[in-house]
Amino acid sequence: MFSKCLSCQLSAAGKDLTKGYHRTCSKQLFGTAQPPDVPFKTTEVTAEAQKMVGRMSISGVQPKLSVIHDRRRHELTVVDRGGLFILKPQTDRFESLPENENLCMNIVSTYGIEVPPHGLLPLPDGKLAYLVRRFDRLDDGSKLQQEDFQQLLQTDDKYSGSYERIANFLKRHSDVIGLDLVRLFERALLFYVLGNGDAHLKNFSLLRREDVGYQLSPAYDVLSYRLVLPEEKDDMCLSLQGKRNSISKKDLQGLSEHFGLTGKQVNNALDRLSALRSSIEMMIEGSFLEKRLRNRFLEIFEERMDGVSNKGIRS
Ligand SMILES: Nc1ncnc2c1ncn2[C@@H]1O[C@H](COP(=O)(O)OP(=O)(O)OP(=O)(O)O)[C@@H](O)[C@H]1O
Ligand SMILES: [Mg+2]
Ligand SMILES: [Zn+2]
Repeated sequence: MFSKCLSCQLSAAGKDLTKGYHRTCSKQLFGTAQPPDVPFKTTEVTAEAQKMVGRMSISGVQPKLSVIHDRRRHELTVVDRGGLFILKPQTDRFESLPENENLCMNIVSTYGIEVPPHGLLPLPDGKLAYLVRRFDRLDDGSKLQQEDFQQLLQTDDKYSGSYERIANFLKRHSDVIGLDLVRLFERALLFYVLGNGDAHLKNFSLLRREDVGYQLSPAYDVLSYRLVLPEEKDDMCLSLQGKRNSISKKDLQGLSEHFGLTGKQVNNALDRLSALRSSIEMMIEGSFLEKRLRNRFLEIFEERMDGVSNKGIRS
């Protein structure tokens, strides 16, 4: 029995939740009033994911399955092709990644960054897995064109890149340049304060939407890697003004100038984050992470917020 929603993570009197979901949260993610069951255990997901490597159109390092929601049987089914969701289970290497990813996706969404519908689902072994809807698939199964920035920038190394290089590409190819540059700036800011140190070139994509054309895709794979990898050398894997660590408001200002953003746009982005500071703290405290990880996450967040706070950036 869950006392808070497995998707939005807000508390609710038990009776308001069905199988751990608010009705509206379930509708948004699954299109049904109740979430489906997951008929396979964490170990089975990991074994199945091994088999699917190379067969799926989605890659990435962590084990994952491509699934659809079988509404007749009220359960998730694994598919080779045409999956509408990606399921990411717990891993042996890093603890609580599903809880971590659901929390971080909720935080960036609260800030105003577009993310696909997502949530946690309990497996029969009692462990939670993370589930996200694919933004490159429409309900009828048709596919939108999507290309990640390692492919777009034609580099062999997903870690050799910078926010400036992504911005330069957007300036040439986005159909909504001004909007995408603000979006990229907001992501650099949020990814830094959350400790999302694994935001490499494959974790940014350009998506071709039928209505607007080419633009930055919704955000995905947003996690606090600093939380599970405290010994990692760099805070950011893509550089920003030549730096990967100790990002300051001055660095953000330099980045915004490279992007061609106005002082007003930058102040707006920073002011909105400062205004949300206590709400984000509450989201961390109210997450499904265990207390030790919640406290550590708060420390990471506070330290970085102090570094980038808006005091002094005025134009
Ligand atoms: N919601 C989504 N909709 C469409 N495509 C997605 C979505 N989420 C992820 N992808 C695609 O699948 C790939 C792998 O997903 P993701 O980045 O979440 O996995 P990962 O194994 O954690 O990655 P990494 O290798 O960065 O650790 C992404 O690079 C992206 O191309
Ligand atoms: Mg990834
Ligand atoms: Zn909810």
